[in-house]
Amino acid sequence: MASRGEDFRTIWLKPDDPTTVQIIDQRLLPHEYHVHDLRSWQDGLVAIRDMYVRGAPLIGATAAWSLYLAALSGANSEVAVREAAEALLKSRPTAVNLRWAVDRILALVDRAAPGTALAELILADAQAICDEDIEISRSIGTHGVALLEAISRKKSGATVNILTHCNAGSLATINWGTATAPIYFAQQRGIDVHVWVDETRPRNQGSQLTAWELAANDVPHTLIVDNAGGHLMQHGQVDIVITGTDRTTRCGDVANKIGTYLKALAAHDNDVPFYVALPSTTIDWNSRDGLTEIPIEQRDAAEVSVAYGVIDGKPVHVRTTAAGTPISNFAFDVTPARLVTGLITERGICEASEVGLLGLFPEMAAS
Ligand code: MRU
Repeated sequence: MASRGEDFRTIWLKPDDPTTVQIIDQRLLPHEYHVHDLRSWQDGLVAIRDMYVRGAPLIGATAAWSLYLAALSGANSEVAVREAAEALLKSRPTAVNLRWAVDRILALVDRAAPGTALAELILADAQAICDEDIEISRSIGTHGVALLEAISRKKSGATVNILTHCNAGSLATINWGTATAPIYFAQQRGIDVHVWVDETRPRNQGSQLTAWELAANDVPHTLIVDNAGGHLMQHGQVDIVITGTDRTTRCGDVANKIGTYLKALAAHDNDVPFYVALPSTTIDWNSRDGLTEIPIEQRDAAEVSVAYGVIDGKPVHVRTTAAGTPISNFAFDVTPARLVTGLITERGICEASEVGLLGLFPEMAAS
């Protein structure tokens, strides 16, 4: 069981079986490590919708691989791909990488000459999306590590305390992660780092995924309940907050896992820098105002009322609420750009604003 190293990937083609894509069933971590087979685009849809895979970049990659599986199915590959694309787009509304990946594959299909073997074409692009994502995360790491180096210098080498929310690690991407890449690079450079890991209710991506992968990579970390961050910041225990994002508008508003906004408010009140690490595939160049334009996914009440854990070594699910308790379950919130100190992208770090983003991505000015 591992989540480390150059060779780690969260999604791959099954060796010796090009009709099957494999993923880690993240619903079962950290108590079980199970590799799950996707044999049809419908399997891919279920994996995205029911969060076997999650995290914006990995959701996008899984959609691309699902379209490959669609092209393998049915008498008419193109019809199957278009049908799958339509269904996949509805599976998780907030993470914009899903639409980005589907649009990229559909553009490929549109350009293909009649008679082209679509499955081969999409296979190559799904692989490329994954390879590119790894390089993007690596670049986010090389830019973001400068922030941690600067804090370390300022503290004369004392421990740099980073707070993160949800899982924006290797498991949310193909490898390295977005928020975690600078941390992994800092560790490689010998910087003394420690990560405060927000539990991240209700799905516990912090306690069940981030803590697991930081442990696998020997990164010192401590799990905290979601409400502890403000207290730690008031007492000087947090040097920097780094989160990921599921969709960032061209003006720098950041949608991320529910609770991110409260961390940004606490950081602002305590002069703690609040950074968001993101691949450009997570920028929604078509939206400006996050509060009104980003759809916020609402998920099943059972995510709030039922907890996953272990009893006597056996993974179990238990209901923690009184039966019938009314529940609402908003999965994401929006942090306004004014609360974001900076965006860490694969092209560098910029202000969370249209000017900042266009400075790094000038080719998007006309979009
Ligand atoms: O609901 P999830 O687990 O798919 O949400 C993912 C997140 O919100 C993460 O915090 C992450 O920052 C975005 S993906 C790198």
